[in-house]
Amino acid sequence: MPNPIIGIDLGTTNSVVSILKDKLPQTILVDNAKLLPSVVCYTDSKFIVGQTAKNMAILEPENTVLSIKRKMGQDISLKIGDREMRPEEISAVILKKIRDTVVEQFDFNENLPVRCVITVPAYFTEEQRNATKQAAEISALQVERIINEPTAAALAFGMSALDEAVYAIYDLGGGTFDISVIESMDGLVEVLATKGNNELGGDDFDKLLMDFIWERFLKQNKIVNVYRTRKEEARLIRIAEQTKIKLSSEKVVPVQESFFLKNNGINYHLEMEISRDEFEGLIREKIQSTTTLLAEALDAAKLKAAELDGIILVGGSSRIPLVADMIQKKFNVDAALISHPDEAVSHGATIQGAIIDNQEIDTVLIDITPHSLGVAVMDDTTYDKLYSLSPEQVGKDYKPDLGTGVIIKQNTPIPSKKSRKFSASVPFQKKFEIEVYQGEGKRYTDNRNIGTAMLEVAEPLEHGTIEVTFELDINGLLKITAEETTTKEMVNAEFKSSKGVRVHKSHVETAEMASREESDNVLIRRAEKLLDNDEIVAEDKAELTELITRYQQKQETEDQAALEETENELLDLLYYLEGNED
Ligand SMILES: Nc1ncnc2c1ncn2[C@@H]1O[C@H](COP(=O)(O)OP(=O)(O)OP(=O)(O)O)[C@@H](O)[C@H]1O
Ligand SMILES: [Mg+2]
Repeated sequence: MPNPIIGIDLGTTNSVVSILKDKLPQTILVDNAKLLPSVVCYTDSKFIVGQTAKNMAILEPENTVLSIKRKMGQDISLKIGDREMRPEEISAVILKKIRDTVVEQFDFNENLPVRCVITVPAYFTEEQRNATKQAAEISALQVERIINEPTAAALAFGMSALDEAVYAIYDLGGGTFDISVIESMDGLVEVLATKGNNELGGDDFDKLLMDFIWERFLKQNKIVNVYRTRKEEARLIRIAEQTKIKLSSEKVVPVQESFFLKNNGINYHLEMEISRDEFEGLIREKIQSTTTLLAEALDAAKLKAAELDGIILVGGSSRIPLVADMIQKKFNVDAALISHPDEAVSHGATIQGAIIDNQEIDTVLIDITPHSLGVAVMDDTTYDKLYSLSPEQVGKDYKPDLGTGVIIKQNTPIPSKKSRKFSASVPFQKKFEIEVYQGEGKRYTDNRNIGTAMLEVAEPLEHGTIEVTFELDINGLLKITAEETTTKEMVNAEFKSSKGVRVHKSHVETAEMASREESDNVLIRRAEKLLDNDEIVAEDKAELTELITRYQQKQETEDQAALEETENELLDLLYYLEGNED
């Protein structure tokens, strides 16, 4: 029997994995928690993923990578310790942690593929989707399907079981914002419109609050001409996030942090209060931009807010009260938080996995493409412009500002197949290169070049024409095929992504992952090192010993909040004592 399909939400801040149990998705605990922080740290020649890695961001920021999802699809390398790694390789480390946990906990057959449905923000581009798929492949996961996060949330919400309903799914996470308008009818779940912003989420709120706290701290203490290092930055971000989360349930939150900054021999502590009003002032504009996108999605779906059966809030940042407030004010519709807002997307992925495996779930999912797909073409504007130029101006190097010839329109259901004919520009033309773009801009320069379709005709005719078929598959990934229109011969076609992602698989495969124990003990090992250090005074050592004991006790219990609190204390002390050494 094949291994069951797992559902993975590879989030900017947290990742979640689930599996079908008694016909329902169930979140799998990774390191004893439902949410695995999407943080990777490379220390002592091993990879640590999750909460421990998140802690290490404070002690070893140069060895730690957070929010890698924001960089997916970019042609870059990041430094992590002494390594250079591409975004998909770093994501692969997170996925490997998930894979290893599942295989071990559920006795998967290691000789068979470990299959998954993995989610991406609805607004992800082709390159971002591809990078996600590659990350999964590097970590030896077999991707059965890529689905959009809001669509997954709709499946988890049980929309497929509703007779005729239309909901807007509003997903504000750590790094991305997605809005989808979704209709259900007799087990058919159909996405009507989707909008979003790949660069908007809780991370941005943390940064705004971090700057606010820093400025206030400097002002309070009359400190000038001080720059914050990566260490202070890492601490500030953590403080900002914790404060932000508390502000969702409290009106005023005290911020206290010992030994925050040492300047001119003086130790400064962080001590202030932040009110919800102040925080809302910082983020109002960002939340407003999400409601604007919601209005645009409704327009695209040709619906009025009053026609919706509801607005469902998904994602951790949707817990900020201002979100529901602003939606209510603008649309006069109540927005409700989905149950299990952090797990819903992964649960939806698991439901999709069950559908693929023909389990007893009668749902068909029809998703759409978030961006138009097109090629650069000589449209009327270009033609007029070219015509107005003198023959000398239209030199060899002149690149006309071509228009975008849309092939597959935004919000078209996928899979979708569209063809377009291209005529040879010279007799017996053998090779055709067609630039492919994604986006809504009128001129091709306003859109993203996602790559080139490279076509080669085996036996070219004098006046050849080829018909190129662009297909967005069910994962939203592009496939290209072509045929010579006269001879009906298939043309050799290949799509080369402009980001030319070439992954050195060995990088991650040979990399060692820290064991659960090694990862749990990282802080303790550091603390013990300090106990052996003669420069640390007895008083500090006593405090450290007490904290280590308390931390170990908390690790044994299930109480995550209590563990986090002790962890914070230990981190603060480590940070202070280690800083004292150099
Ligand atoms: N109670 C809360 N109030 C405000 N923000 C919160 C709360 N709980 C979590 N968050 C924020 O939600 C974000 C994480 O949400 P979530 O886990 O849905 O994101 P993600 O899935 O990792 O990101 P994305 O979907 O963008 O890839 C973080 O920025 C976190 O600080
Ligand atoms: Mg998410």
